[in-house]
Amino acid sequence: MKIIHIGILGYGVVGTGVAKLLKQKKQLLESRIGAVLKLKTIADIDTITDRGVDLGSTSLVSDANLIINDPKIDIIVETIGGKTIAKKFIMDSLENKKHVVTANKALLASFGNDLVKTARNNQVDLAFEASCGGCMPIIKSLKESLVANDINSMSAILNGTCNYILTKISRDGSGFEEALKSAQKLGYAEAEPSLDIDGYDTAHKLAILNSLAHGMEINLKDIHVEGIRNITPVDIQFARSFGYTIKLLAIGRIRGDYVEARVHPTMISSSNPLSHVDMSMNAIAIDADATGQTMLYGHGAGMMPTASAVLSDIADIARNIISGIKRRVPILGYPEDNIKPIRILPMDELYTRYYLRFEAQDHPGVLSKISGILGENNISIKSVHQKGRKTNGKVPVVMITHIAKEAWVQKALKQISKTDSIVGDPIVIRIEEMDQE
Ligand code: HSE
Repeated sequence: MKIIHIGILGYGVVGTGVAKLLKQKKQLLESRIGAVLKLKTIADIDTITDRGVDLGSTSLVSDANLIINDPKIDIIVETIGGKTIAKKFIMDSLENKKHVVTANKALLASFGNDLVKTARNNQVDLAFEASCGGCMPIIKSLKESLVANDINSMSAILNGTCNYILTKISRDGSGFEEALKSAQKLGYAEAEPSLDIDGYDTAHKLAILNSLAHGMEINLKDIHVEGIRNITPVDIQFARSFGYTIKLLAIGRIRGDYVEARVHPTMISSSNPLSHVDMSMNAIAIDADATGQTMLYGHGAGMMPTASAVLSDIADIARNIISGIKRRVPILGYPEDNIKPIRILPMDELYTRYYLRFEAQDHPGVLSKISGILGENNISIKSVHQKGRKTNGKVPVVMITHIAKEAWVQKALKQISKTDSIVGDPIVIRIEEMDQE
């Protein structure tokens, strides 16, 4: 049987999972692939700590160049993470004609177009199934299984930390900080938790998925990103009373010649299957023209689910190698020359429904003042709710709007904030209806 040599850069949680799975599933992989996947070398600055893997003949070294420059190694797996040394190692590996597998969504979202060019120039593969949604096979689904579809829209829960925090607040009424601490204890959060809770990790994944779905360059900078820091138990309770659940959604949707690309807390109907995706689980709903709705659900992180996705990339490349072919499926799902400069819809141009919560002064005429300003800005109110006890002379007032333009809503909110009718900043949560297409 042909032997395919593999090197791993970074022996942390994911690297350890990949080494474990390569060893544990040796026979299954050989019988499915028809080649031996031999883990030749692992590089990490820590060569001392026991990761509980029987390495056998695999060397553990501290110098990554011993992998990058090893003429025997066919596939290099990058599981270091981050955008500095990992970028250099991947670039050097591609330049050395090694196929690269990575889970590094931050790097792909920021420098993916350059990495794709380098891989193309060197006629090698760059694969990243583990970068979005952990073990959910979303990359392969977009590139291969849905190849005959125009993708109308994707709505996804792609960050386990945020989903866990929102579930905790919703179930136990915990405050945000308490729920975050609990997520960190369980090891869900990134080393820098603002990547998770401020929505950037989700945006990185959406930038990658949009490119695959729509044949566009990876574009992170134009994605609108809001995190979950301002979500309170009060909003979750209001949402529930209206039949909604609040989730941090990544939304990618075709709008004429543009793509809507936004990440923000979103109210979805409690009958939407995404509303039942709880704790640290991830899911994506894809609306495509031939298939209609398709959903994937799974662990978005964790040692073995992520390793499983990395192994699927290794298997693809190994199968190409034994068939004597290269780059069978284009890296972004479209041959590089067919990738178009599709633009992201400016956020001001978005039309959707809104949940607005004001801490209003309990004076006569306040409601009519707020609704007057909304009306002057073309915003039609579907319902008004004033519930809960007055505290320090203030009462929470919630308004649900009909479909309105983001620019109108932002202008109206600025005007309302300048009046003496409300205290503090209004809370704005966009509402997605399943019939919004
Ligand atoms: N911190 C990420 C999450 C890990 O919470 O989902 C996977 O990208």
